[in-house]
Amino acid sequence: MRCCVVVNRLAEVTAGQTTWLLSAAAAARGHDVALVSVSDLELDEGGRVSAVGRRLAPGADLDALRAAAPVRVELDAMDVVLWRTSPGRDHERVWAHDMGLELAARVAERGVVVLNDPVGLRRAASKLYLAEIPAEHRPRMVATRDLERVRDFVAACPTGAVLKPASGTRGQDVFRLLPGQTENLAQIVDVLARGGVIIAQEYLPDAVHGDLRLVLVDGEPLVVDGVVAGVRRVPGPRDFRSNVHVGASAAPGVVGPGHLAAAASIGPRLARDGLFLVGLDLIGEKIIEVNVFSTGGLLDAGRFAQRDFVAAIVERVERRVAAAGGGAAPPTG
Ligand SMILES: Nc1ncnc2c1ncn2[C@@H]1O[C@H](COP(=O)(O)OP(=O)(O)O)[C@@H](O)[C@H]1O
Ligand SMILES: [Mg+2]
Repeated sequence: MRCCVVVNRLAEVTAGQTTWLLSAAAAARGHDVALVSVSDLELDEGGRVSAVGRRLAPGADLDALRAAAPVRVELDAMDVVLWRTSPGRDHERVWAHDMGLELAARVAERGVVVLNDPVGLRRAASKLYLAEIPAEHRPRMVATRDLERVRDFVAACPTGAVLKPASGTRGQDVFRLLPGQTENLAQIVDVLARGGVIIAQEYLPDAVHGDLRLVLVDGEPLVVDGVVAGVRRVPGPRDFRSNVHVGASAAPGVVGPGHLAAAASIGPRLARDGLFLVGLDLIGEKIIEVNVFSTGGLLDAGRFAQRDFVAAIVERVERRVAAAGGGAAPPTG
């Protein structure tokens, strides 16, 4: 199959990233893979979407990819577009992601399989999407920019609260408030409100054990040889957040019935919204985040479980493409 992978910036792709692993695995399975940066997408006079990018030769590493000759990649000529952007990590280029999703939606309308679906990505782009999850499977939450609304909510949270931006990533601007700790609340709300809507959640005490990233494909947990794709992230000693970028470390993810019940409460909705590959983050058995953009964690999950989750995802992509009537199956068996 012909496959285009769209990323924030080609120059920022690193070897441990799920995006790279998926690209390399697809190329290794004999597919024609090219990578492009989202900001390079263009629309021509005939309404076709393309970008100058790089073709990934089977077995090539990242250096070889970057050294490859620039080629124009026509998205409309693809069997599948893997939309692997992360708008949350590219705040200064909001335009590129807005435009990109618009162009991706055009391409999808013309019958190219785009994963995840651009319309679904827009719908699920912020943490407001958490509200789609039944209340028993997520923390209590409100979304507001109003100090008094936040104050009332926080006062009603016996375990304390967490305040965060509706569109954030990597733990940036995520604040924890201990019970009764409100003398700095006005300033925290002021800072967060400058960036948009604030999400206030009850603090989940299980956060000391970190969170569990559960990988879902088409709304269902990804299972390879009886093992569910999941990885735990445990906070470091100096911070409550379990983001790897603030010192958390990966650990084996043990997936239990409570996690699966929480996933089942949102899975059908994810599938309906075309959110093919999703990372659910759970604290205890509650979902705190639905990661729909450029979901990661596959390297660690696979390493701990000794399973090739990446190959399993590429296979699911192949099946999707075949079901849509496009793309040849890989030549290998
Ligand atoms: N309601 C909560 N209770 C306890 N810890 C939380 C809560 N919300 C977030 N955290 C901690 O903060 C981290 C970052 O929050 P998250 O909502 O995942 O935002 P981001 O998109 O920046 O990763 C989480 O991984 C978790 O460790
Ligand atoms: Mg998170």
